[in-house]
Amino acid sequence: MEQYVIKGGSPLVGEVEIGGAKNAALGILAASIMTDETVLIENVPDVRDIKVMMQAMESIGVIIQHIDRHTVKINGRNINSQVVDGDYIKRIRASYYLIGALLGKYKSAEVTLPGGCNIGTRPIDQHLKGFRALGAKDAGVVGGGMIVAHADELKGAHIYLDMVTVGATINLMLAAVMAEGQTIIENAAKEPHVVDVANFLNCMGANIKGAGTDVIRIRGVQSLHGTEYTIIPDQIEAGTFMFAAAVTKGDVTVKNVIPKHLESISAKLMEIGCEIEESDDAVRVVATKRPLHTHVKTLPYPGFPTDMQPQITVALGLAEGTSIVTESIFENRFKYVDELTRMGASIKVESSTAIIEGVSRYTGASITAPDLRAGAALVIAGLAADGYTVVDDIRYIERGYEDFDVKLRNLGAMIEKVEDDRGIQKFKLKVG
Ligand code: UD1
Repeated sequence: MEQYVIKGGSPLVGEVEIGGAKNAALGILAASIMTDETVLIENVPDVRDIKVMMQAMESIGVIIQHIDRHTVKINGRNINSQVVDGDYIKRIRASYYLIGALLGKYKSAEVTLPGGCNIGTRPIDQHLKGFRALGAKDAGVVGGGMIVAHADELKGAHIYLDMVTVGATINLMLAAVMAEGQTIIENAAKEPHVVDVANFLNCMGANIKGAGTDVIRIRGVQSLHGTEYTIIPDQIEAGTFMFAAAVTKGDVTVKNVIPKHLESISAKLMEIGCEIEESDDAVRVVATKRPLHTHVKTLPYPGFPTDMQPQITVALGLAEGTSIVTESIFENRFKYVDELTRMGASIKVESSTAIIEGVSRYTGASITAPDLRAGAALVIAGLAADGYTVVDDIRYIERGYEDFDVKLRNLGAMIEKVEDDRGIQKFKLKVG
């Protein structure tokens, strides 16, 4: 099993290119099968979740042609099944977008229940409620863990989401885009990737208005057509490198980003004492001193993202004084705190709140990545720690970060992917 071995202590310095947004790409890939024409998608990140999604699409007859590492051509003309049930599909949360896409195109979908990160119970009741409102009366979970949705016809509906959910907002856009008449999604998620999926569908001929606000209006169209599209940069990958700069007292410019999408992250970094310089498509983070303490609560966009919660906790773990981090989206997202404590952090978790007494340094340890974002955050902790850190279960990190170790190394980090103890020893001999 692959691991990262890290020797902490080097400030990260330099520039890093940010890839396409994983969570946008997952929605866009699903949407791309809704036309019989060919779609060309650029800036697709080369990460494990995307590979699994493509595998699921190929399993039902979608043709995917890889033009280069980040560009694919997709054709959904020969889809021969509306049932997606491979075991592998349980590995990614966003497999459920295939329900919206297949239901929207064929009025029939059966997909194995999604997995993804174990960060809470993650119900899908809002997706199902919306599918039912659109005409898939049987939408639900049936024995064996399949989500099913079948409709004689799909008709526009007025759907109120009980909470802000990215997944349900995207899934319902997919299901409604060719439904007859108008669909209104109220209390919609406003995340950049919701807007990106809507923009992509509009390029395919859909009529979606209001994405990026909390009311999305969709006028059903007869059919969708081929298009060419470039996925937006990944806000969370960018934010992760920005916090890596903060924690290692570095100077990092994240390039190929949309600074507007990073505002809540930049604001918190300034609060904890970093300097931020923004240009059109880059943000520079300069950190010269120990982080200042602060409070933060995760919220739907434009609030501070839950996917950045472990990274800011790692930074605040090194701040002088007491900080409080409140998780308001997923109830089970502090599992990594035990690992961070083993590196010397002083953090008490009470239900959805972490109370952090900053320490002056972390100490390297052998730790395990419990999920995608927490895994990346623990790597950052290792970069700032004294001595060596070994991070296990990096397959979680590779679900969402392309060449994470390579990009960090290019910024001066001492990190390597190894396969066993021999690899660790070799690394130690090399870096001294
Ligand atoms: C997506 C992102 C994930 C991110 C999250 C919040 C993808 C593939 N994943 O996850 O990285 O952390 O948004 O920004 O894009 N909820 C319900 N019922 C539902 C749906 C959601 O109760 O039917 C709850 C969830 O349990 C959670 C909250 O709503 O408490 C938000 O979830 P949601 O935005 O749907 O997250 P995902 O789409 O799963």
